[in-house]
Amino acid sequence: MKHKLIFIRTALILISFLGIGVQSGYAQSEGADLFDEYCADCHSIGEGDMKGPDLMGVEYRYNNKWLLKFIKSSQTVIKAGDPAAVKIWTKFEKNKMPNTKLSDEKIQTIIAYIKSLNTSKPKPKPVVVQTKKGLKKGNSNKGSSVSNQKIDELSSKVDAFGGKINNLEKKINQLIEIQKKALQSKPTSEDIAKGKELFLGRKSFNSKGASCVSCHNIYKIDSLNWNPSAVDLANTYTQTNYYMKDLLLKPQSDKMKAVSKGHELTDNEAFYVAAYINSLEKTELIELPKSHKNLYIFIFIALIMTLAVSDLLFTHKIKPRWINVVLFLLSFAYVANATVNSATEIDLSEGYTPLQPIKFSHKVHVKQNDIKCIFCHNSPEFSKVSGIPSLNACMICHKKVNSGTNSGKFEINKLKKAYKEKTPIKWVRVHSLPDHVFFSHAQHVTIAKQDCITCHGDVKEMDLVTQVSPLSMGWCVNCHKNTEVNFKKNKFYRNFTELHDALKSGKIKKVTADQIGANDCQKCHY
Ligand code: HEC
Ligand code: HEC
Ligand code: HEC
Ligand code: HEC
Ligand code: HEC
Ligand code: HEC
Ligand code: HEC
Repeated sequence: MKHKLIFIRTALILISFLGIGVQSGYAQSEGADLFDEYCADCHSIGEGDMKGPDLMGVEYRYNNKWLLKFIKSSQTVIKAGDPAAVKIWTKFEKNKMPNTKLSDEKIQTIIAYIKSLNTSKPKPKPVVVQTKKGLKKGNSNKGSSVSNQKIDELSSKVDAFGGKINNLEKKINQLIEIQKKALQSKPTSEDIAKGKELFLGRKSFNSKGASCVSCHNIYKIDSLNWNPSAVDLANTYTQTNYYMKDLLLKPQSDKMKAVSKGHELTDNEAFYVAAYINSLEKTELIELPKSHKNLYIFIFIALIMTLAVSDLLFTHKIKPRWINVVLFLLSFAYVANATVNSATEIDLSEGYTPLQPIKFSHKVHVKQNDIKCIFCHNSPEFSKVSGIPSLNACMICHKKVNSGTNSGKFEINKLKKAYKEKTPIKWVRVHSLPDHVFFSHAQHVTIAKQDCITCHGDVKEMDLVTQVSPLSMGWCVNCHKNTEVNFKKNKFYRNFTELHDALKSGKIKKVTADQIGANDCQKCHY
């Protein structure tokens, strides 16, 4: 790598020699000649003091005007008491710089030449060159026609380019390293099984730390678990440059640092657990195994019911008949109730609480941070739909809010990643009417003045939005029957003259939504 860079650099310098040299070449070589002729006896440039001081960098020690005066007649400047001149004179007391009879122009040419040799990088190696005064140590750039500024520019470009290559190389090496590690220690299904035991806490860790599943669940649950699920961990971190095992030995987040403090995993444990977590990549959370407890109870009680009936009618084993009657009635009530319940459960999505791709909590935002519904759902007042906020809306705050009290950085990182990659978040829809039903938020929120809470429940208390209303036809129709409309004040209803008359004569006390036609089939069905 290094060699390559040096090669590129040299090549560039050579190219610049040829290319740029032509214009400034004449002045440069004249400067070198003049220097050789008038100054080189006492001065070197970059080779140390001779009779007079080394002139390398002299342009930084004095300004041009001063140099011109000094080189013309050093003694005049020294005698005038110029402190810098006095200082250098006392240092080289024994030697005196003679007055030169050079024109201003020529002196400028010499100064320009001295300047041109001052290249701090790349520093030209001194080589032996032929001068008028015989063989002499000189400078490889001497007499050459390179503009040093140009070299600096080019070489800094080369450096930057080299830096980029270096970075790239580093990244590639990192990836190879990860790949290597993954290949070297490709876990077997036994390793994965061991990791699962540890993760689930069926086998305890050496350090007796908490089981991972106590925070990172592997089953779908209805309530919000703020900690990332095991699947979430796998899917998030296998897409990064992190190697899961390293992550477990050296946690990244404050939360995990706290968890593992004093409960560090051993190298082996980390390997097994990492194998298990990685094995969950691209999977989904498992449905909680359904408990059959209710079914067994149901069968047991149905059996009692049957026995009671058959004893009552045929076998007559139990003498006091009322026992059988009571048993039958109780068990019948239970069975009937359970049957109706399970039948209605199938139909309605009431209570539907899907998990969302990001753990967005209304409780955190609306209740704890006092954000109004309308800030995010900005159209219920004038449109059919309320609208789900875009990522941009989230980023108004989350460009600055980087972590949450409950979830640390994990969830907000997802948000930022989606924003960076411009991929919208796929929120799972909670409320949904069939296509053949028309429902308008504006009608209900703005005209009927219904609160969100009436239909959606107390959303500000929810971490996960749940559907609290059945959204059935009966639900809509009943509310229309029972809810009074603001009849008198609304000019839309002026042409309901019959209703107005009835109100005036006291025949009816109020007008409900269904009376103005809200329960006509075509109002709700296209
Ligand atoms: C005979 C020797 C001699 C020659 C030839 C000579 N100088 Fe000097 N130069 C000196 C000495 C000695 C000093 C130290 C101050 C002094 O004593 O005047 C000096 C100082 C300087 C300084 C101030 C350097 C500093 O670091 O403060 C400059 C600039 C300088 N000379 C430029 C030139 C130039 C340009 C030429 C050629 C045109 C030249 N000198 C020729 C001997 C010489
Ligand atoms: C007390 C709850 C808790 C326990 C116990 C716990 N974790 Fe975590 N873990 C978290 C939380 C919360 C985060 C996310 C924090 C964040 O991103 O800011 C997390 C993050 C992680 C991460 C992502 C990388 C990192 O350093 O943040 C990995 C991997 C992880 N946990 C693995 C495990 C394993 C393996 C175990 C069992 C040995 C375990 N966790 C036990 C709460 C826990
Ligand atoms: C900070 C932004 C924000 C605020 C404030 C907010 N919401 Fe939401 N709301 C969302 C996001 C994002 C979703 C989609 C994810 C979800 O369902 O949790 C959502 C979903 C919902 C849903 C379910 C939509 C569906 O899919 O059927 C309802 C209902 C809802 N919000 C009502 C409210 C009410 C009522 C308020 C005020 C009390 C409110 N929201 C305040 C961002 C917000
Ligand atoms: C008006 C500002 C604001 C907007 C808009 C906003 N948030 Fe937040 N969000 C916050 C604040 C404040 C917190 C709480 C930080 C804390 O817990 O200290 C937070 C916390 C969170 C958390 C972490 C909760 C926790 O306690 O761990 C998530 C995840 C989150 N927001 C997602 C979203 C999403 C998704 C959106 C867009 C639909 C959004 N936020 C819009 C201000 C906002
Ligand atoms: C009269 C009952 C009712 C009221 C009041 C109501 N909603 Fe809804 N909301 C619904 C129904 C029904 C749906 C399902 C609509 C569909 O699937 O077309 C819904 C859907 C939503 C949705 C999801 C999709 C969408 O954009 O429509 C959001 C978000 C929502 N409501 C927010 C609100 C907010 C915020 C308020 C208060 C300003 C509110 N709702 C007031 C009944 C209501
Ligand atoms: C909380 C009570 C309530 C619920 C629940 C409700 N509505 Fe309404 N709805 C009203 C009221 C009140 C009005 C009368 C608004 C007005 O015009 O003043 C209305 C009006 C309407 C209208 C307009 C009727 C017209 O005269 O143009 C339609 C359509 C409608 N609702 C559809 C529905 C559907 C579909 C559902 C169920 C998904 C539903 N509503 C649920 C209270 C409700
Ligand atoms: C206030 C609004 C509203 C009115 C008025 C209304 N419906 Fe409905 N209807 C609904 C809703 C909401 C559903 C969807 C219920 C569901 O998905 O469970 C529905 C569903 C239906 C279905 C389909 C049932 C199914 O299984 O999908 C039929 C058929 C139907 N309505 C007929 C009618 C007829 C006929 C009328 C007039 C007498 C009428 N509706 C008036 C709101 C209304």
